[in-house]
Amino acid sequence: MHILGICNGSLRGNSEILLKIALTEAQAQDPTITTSWIHAPSLVMPLNPAPLVGTLDISMGSNKSQMNGTKTSGALDDRRAALNAILDADAIIVSSAIYSHQPPGFLKVLMDRIGGPFLDAGFVTEALEKKAKGDPQFAKFECDQRLLKPRVLGFMMTGGSTTPDQFSMALPSMQVYFSCLHAKVVDQFVGQNCLDAGSVLLNPDLTERAKLLAKNIVSQTGKPYDEAKYLGTSEPGACTYCHLSAIELFRDNRNGVGCVSCGARGQLVVSEDGGILPQWEKDSRWSCLTLKGKIIHGEEIMSWGARERSKIADISSERDQWLGVQIPLVPLPSQMAEGLTNSIATVHL
Ligand SMILES: Cc1cc2nc3c(=O)[nH]c(=O)nc-3n(C[C@H](O)[C@H](O)[C@H](O)COP(=O)(O)O)c2cc1C
Repeated sequence: MHILGICNGSLRGNSEILLKIALTEAQAQDPTITTSWIHAPSLVMPLNPAPLVGTLDISMGSNKSQMNGTKTSGALDDRRAALNAILDADAIIVSSAIYSHQPPGFLKVLMDRIGGPFLDAGFVTEALEKKAKGDPQFAKFECDQRLLKPRVLGFMMTGGSTTPDQFSMALPSMQVYFSCLHAKVVDQFVGQNCLDAGSVLLNPDLTERAKLLAKNIVSQTGKPYDEAKYLGTSEPGACTYCHLSAIELFRDNRNGVGCVSCGARGQLVVSEDGGILPQWEKDSRWSCLTLKGKIIHGEEIMSWGARERSKIADISSERDQWLGVQIPLVPLPSQMAEGLTNSIATVHL
């Protein structure tokens, strides 16, 4: 079994230290486990690249614009190596700082480039099922088999704030970035009061928490999604899918609520002690964490895309008119070096 660590903070900072504590503990728990790590902010990716060659295309070739990229020399590209590291891993521990209440964007850029629709385990499951049933649309469908292997996840985040209002979107964002993989999140936490690099070591409870997360990861590694258990903490009324407590109010006159993090739906109910808490739906078709939710969402966007495409010809001249409007681009040294000053719209088609 292999555990991949992804550090999404400054080099030699709190995230790196917590990650190394967790990976070391994982090996102490099971010496057969191997580990490796990636520093997300150091990954090199070309400017606005087209998706990697051979990447999953859930539109089955019909959404061409998603495949566009800016023409640049872009010789250095770490995306494939990062993707392979993620797909090879049996478990992933992400250790991240918090910037402006969320994970720093380096990780989001990576997952937007190689994750999301390009790593959609729901679509792959559905496509393989349709292929097996003889659906001609999927007759030639092939995918990287590593996408379907059991995988577990753990999230550790540190913030400088002494109060939780400053990291309300930290774990919710993390849940969404990795939902495409259909890997079970078995533990997650935010450590607050960690401002300066290394300050995580001033808080022994936090380093112990990182070790506990490692133990939890090791105990669930190798188990299929439905068997792996969530071993982290959760507040009363927390979403039963992502175990987080950020809710949106639906104003549907039925006290409906949605989970901000994963999309599950529920209803506010008065409990016996007079308190009001969400009661979450079972077998959610809305949560992006359930296979059912992923598949239904995939089918919906496919059929919506087909309806949209049937009307695109009607607006093509208006579209070209708008795209032809000349507004000066701010001169950027990187784009001038690539000869892109006035032709950023030049794409790989
Ligand atoms: C640009 C920037 C924005 C930050 N925003 C937040 C924030 O919104 N909430 C918070 O709790 N900490 C915030 N912090 C503090 C860091 O999350 C904290 O110092 C963290 O432990 C840094 O991790 P690292 O050492 O791995 O980089 C911010 C730090 C930086 C540099």
